[in-house]
This record gives sequence, C-alpha cells and structure tokens, in this order.
Amino acid sequence: MQTQTLYDRVGGQAGVTRLIGSFYQRLLADAQLSPFFATIPMEKLQRMQVEFFTAALGGPLQYSGRPLAHVHHGRGITKTHLRRFTEHLLATLESIPLSQQDIQSIYNRIAVEADEIAEDAEGLGSGCEAG
Ligand code: HEM
Repeated sequence: MQTQTLYDRVGGQAGVTRLIGSFYQRLLADAQLSPFFATIPMEKLQRMQVEFFTAALGGPLQYSGRPLAHVHHGRGITKTHLRRFTEHLLATLESIPLSQQDIQSIYNRIAVEADEIAEDAEGLGSGCEAG
C-alpha cells in the first residue's frame, strides 16, 4: 500500500519492539558500549526507544522521554561510541526483511540526532552546556 508508513513496514508496534530488542542485544554484546548501560534500567530505556523510533517512523506514539542532549551529555560518549552505536543500528535493520531504501530512510531518521549525543561532535546544536 502506498500510504503505509515506515512504521507499518517495520511491522507496527510488534515490529518496532522486536527491532529495539535485537538492537539492544547487539549493543550489550559490544564490550565498548555495554559499560554505558551497566547501571541503566533497560526495560524503561527500551520502552523509551520504542516510543522514539515509533514517532520517528511515522507511527502512533509520541516520545515522552527527556531531550536527547540532556540525557547523553556527561556520560563521556565520543564520536567513536556513536559510530559503533549507529553501525549496530544498521546491522539490526539489515537483519529485517526491508528494502534497502527503507533501511536507509530509517537509519537517517535516527542518525540525524547524532549531533545531540556525542560530546566531541562538531556543531553541537543542543543548547546544553553541561557535561
Ligand atoms: C543517534 C543516536 C542515539 C539516539 C537517537 C539515542 C536515543 C536515546 C533515547 C530516546 C533514550 C531514552 C531517554 C529517556 O529515557 O528519557 C536514550 C537513553 C540512553 N542512551 Fe541513547 N541514543 C543514541 C546514542 C547513544 C549512545 C552512542 C550511547 C552510549 C554509547 C547512548 C547511551 C544511552 C544511555 C546510557 C541512556 C539511558 C539514560 C538514562 O536512563 O539515564 N545513547 N537514548
């Protein structure tokens, strides 16, 4: 159907929930990234990510979490961490039966937030001076 959103093509709420589940399995299996999540309540984080992805892909949820710059600054997240994070996202998307075009669109909609995350990124447009 022409009117389907990316959210629909990922498989709606069940599909997004599965996607986030396998994405965080990958992140937690990465020794360079897992320490960032060691003390984090993962159930809540994944719930927030389901909202975030659902909203970004045109689905029916609003993101009710904190602003991304605020959440990430002060954690020592570098561009290298961010690159690994987005590489795991791409690998997760490639494990789902989606067209290359959809994979690229989904990836772009999430990776567009990158400037808000890493503290050594150029052009931090976050307005958050902390960290
Ligand atoms: C484009 C990249 C990223 C996006 C879109 C993103 C998105 C999010 C979202 C939506 C939350 C939930 C916020 C909330 O609970 O209010 C979150 C939390 C978190 N993110 Fe990210 N994130 C990204 C990159 C990263 C990277 C690279 C790391 C570390 C290597 C990271 C570590 C964390 C941690 C530790 C939390 C939990 C914070 C807490 O609950 O106190 N994120 N992220």
